[in-house]
Amino acid sequence: MLAPGDWIAVKTPGGGGYGPATERDPAMVERDIARGYYTDVEAVRLFTRTHAAAAESRISRSGSCWHLFGLSCAALRRRKHVSKRRSIMDERTIPSDAEFWTRARRHLLKYGGEFVDFVPVRAEGAFLYDDAGRRVLDFTSGQMSAVLGHSHPEIVATVRDGIGRLDHLFSSMLSRPVVDLAEALARLVPQLPKVMLLSTGGEANEAAIKLAKLVTGGWEVVGFAQSWHGMTGMAASATYKAGRRGYGPMAMGCFAIPAPNAYRPRFPGVDWQTELNDAFDLLDRQSTGNLAAFIAEPILSSGGVIELPAGYLAALKQKCIERGMLLILDEAQTGMGRSGTMFAFERDGVVPDILVLSKTLGAGLPLAAVMTTDQISQTADDRGFLFYTTHVNDPLPAMVGLKVIEIVRRDGLAARAGELGDRLKRELLSLKQRYPCIGDVRGRGLLLGVEFRALDRNENHSARSLSDAVTEKALRLGLSANIVRTGGSDGVMRIAPPLTATEAEIDLGLDLLDAALEQMLEKLPRVHAAE
Ligand SMILES: Cc1ncc(COP(=O)(O)O)c(C=O)c1O
Repeated sequence: MLAPGDWIAVKTPGGGGYGPATERDPAMVERDIARGYYTDVEAVRLFTRTHAAAAESRISRSGSCWHLFGLSCAALRRRKHVSKRRSIMDERTIPSDAEFWTRARRHLLKYGGEFVDFVPVRAEGAFLYDDAGRRVLDFTSGQMSAVLGHSHPEIVATVRDGIGRLDHLFSSMLSRPVVDLAEALARLVPQLPKVMLLSTGGEANEAAIKLAKLVTGGWEVVGFAQSWHGMTGMAASATYKAGRRGYGPMAMGCFAIPAPNAYRPRFPGVDWQTELNDAFDLLDRQSTGNLAAFIAEPILSSGGVIELPAGYLAALKQKCIERGMLLILDEAQTGMGRSGTMFAFERDGVVPDILVLSKTLGAGLPLAAVMTTDQISQTADDRGFLFYTTHVNDPLPAMVGLKVIEIVRRDGLAARAGELGDRLKRELLSLKQRYPCIGDVRGRGLLLGVEFRALDRNENHSARSLSDAVTEKALRLGLSANIVRTGGSDGVMRIAPPLTATEAEIDLGLDLLDAALEQMLEKLPRVHAAE
């Protein structure tokens, strides 16, 4: 407990010395700021705002990166339980927060567990900021979508311009941005020149599956047992990762096969080709001969960042051809460069019959696309394909999609995702060497997963507890990452920073994760000592 007149330490840029920032190496100061440190001026401002206290700044003699602030009595009355050496990032409960959460609890329907204990009022680039000026590095790109970071100036300009010119139209009325975007997408995947623009991933998968059913005449749909394709009708029926219980029957004719998992093989020693053959053998026994489509993510993200091994997609496509099924690839998260190529399927040289893009196509704004061949489009048209929605082919999101493609291509962001991803993965692997609670590091480009493993049988040392504790700690330190659980994997941290993140931001994320792991394990002295 602090007493009046005590001092609290706040991390500020060191820059190799402890004089005023102006006297330090500007490059070093800039690096520290990129790593999340506050400048001394910022820190004084934030601290006085948070505590309504006239804080006096004094530079620490013991460490170049710290400033000390004297606490007034008023500050102590407001913050009774501030420990002596907490980062300013840890100052969580301020009066406006409490009021906000009371209103949130009173009026918001929960849709997926607890809300995150950080309330951004602004987001820019790779960072989120709350109203006390605390910033959090966004290592999930929002909901795995903001490939250009937040509020990219060119996207902001595009939306500002578009909303004032051409926002939304009657669904059968076309506009230039829509045709331009369809053409731009077709240039990226010339084999799939027919495009329909929608809003969300679930909706676009719905359209893709309907298209496959109409064109094949079948109605059975197969997916992976760790899949996530959306929350609506058919998309939810093809989603096996979560959400199947409590809602009555799913669509008839839905089947799942296991996705290959090198870290947790279903049958150790059995290769993926044998597993795939076996799965299709089982499928053939259950099918009524009406198979319409297989829907797959090239990297199963919500399923625990499971990357399909090289060769798998080609084998899967062959299985589909043999049965007259269409292959639908859902590149909601992997599209637009995240995996190191514009689309993840490019690594395998396998073009699907239907490609579904969402999330990353709008870089965080609601935009999705269904792309297919001339032949499929013709058959669908002949049979009266109907997918008429309010926002189909809306001009404003189309303008955004066009700009996203332009930026991703112009700035070489797919290659950048590959390079940054290699750097990030290398460092995550070195964290794995140092922390026994990390069992596996996997993924491709800037879609990576860190799988936690139990340290022993103690419930507090389970993969679930450890991954939760690290994520919570990381958020306190200023890093937002996300844990997914599936089947045998009890805690996989998904790491998917914006493709525009700087090297310094990637390093900052690693530093923060490292610190979170260290601090979390410090609380488990018995385990730590045993290791
Ligand atoms: C691979 C994949 N497909 C589809 C969806 C559903 O997208 P939406 O939430 O936009 O409907 C998601 C959402 O997480 C996803 O990860």
